[in-house]
Order: sequence, then structure tokens, then C-alpha cells
Amino acid sequence: MPDVDTGHRITGTVNGAAYDEVVDDRMTLADFLREKLRLTGTHLGCEHGVCGACTVIVDGAASRSCLMLAVQADGTEIETVEVLAEDGELNRLQAAFKKNHALQCGFCTSGFLMSVTAAMREGAIRDEGHAREVLSGNICRCTGYTGLVKAVLEAGE
Ligand code: FES
Ligand code: FES
Repeated sequence: MPDVDTGHRITGTVNGAAYDEVVDDRMTLADFLREKLRLTGTHLGCEHGVCGACTVIVDGAASRSCLMLAVQADGTEIETVEVLAEDGELNRLQAAFKKNHALQCGFCTSGFLMSVTAAMREGAIRDEGHAREVLSGNICRCTGYTGLVKAVLEAGE
């Protein structure tokens, strides 16, 4: 637990719930979500901005939570993968991932879901090329991309 003199107090919302916490200045947003708020659906892979596993949505924009400090998120609205399910049921995008075998081990999945969610809010996914562009910021090491593309196209219909 950081000393209040060496950290900063931050407030905001995560998945619509308000928080008010004191964090160490060097704590990443990913560690804040996972360790302070126990939202462990956000995963850490490379921890240097390459793989996309840590992607969350900050004020509407898909963001690498491993590259952002928790103090930089002060006053923002954050969404994590935990917000997607609706009344305990998979939402349309999650269901499309399941149906189209868009995951195997699932480690990368939350990051993909949040990247795609942010992109779909900006407009419809037009075609396969667009789907691949939307997926291109995230890396999956084990399932291949065919199912991911199918899932994004199906969810975007
Ligand atoms: Fe953040 Fe890989 S863990 S981009
Ligand atoms: Fe295993 Fe993507 S499903 S890394």
C-alpha cells in the first residue's frame, strides 16, 4: 500500500462504478485495474505496448493500459472487458467470438474484444479488409485469425 505522501489520489469510473484510490505514481493503469480493483479480465502480455492484451477503453478510445499510468487515468471513464456481458449473458460480440472459435487459450481475448468494441462504436465494420485492420493492433499466439475475422464480421452485421 503506497504512502499517501508518495502517491496520488485518483478518482473516476470503471465500468460505471466510481472509485477513489491512492496510487503510487509509477503504477500502470493495468496494475491498478488488476491489483487495486481486482478486475483481472485485463491481461498483461508484453507489457510494452505491442501485443494489445491489456487493451481497455478510456474515454471512448481503445488504450494500452500497460503504457498508461494510473494517475493519467484520473478523471476518466474506463471500460474493461468485465462491462461487456449483459445481464450475465455474452453480448453480441462475445457470442460471435464463441460461435466462430475466435479464441483458444483466451489470453488475448479481452484485449481483442475491447479493441473491436471501440472500433464498432465508430462505425460498421465494412468488410474483411476493414475487420483485419481493426484486429491488427492485437496479437494472438494460438488461435489464428480466420475465426477472429469471421466473428468481427458477424458481430458487425
Ligand atoms: Fe500491453 Fe502487451 S501488455 S500491449
Ligand atoms: Fe491464445 Fe489468442 S487465444 S493467445
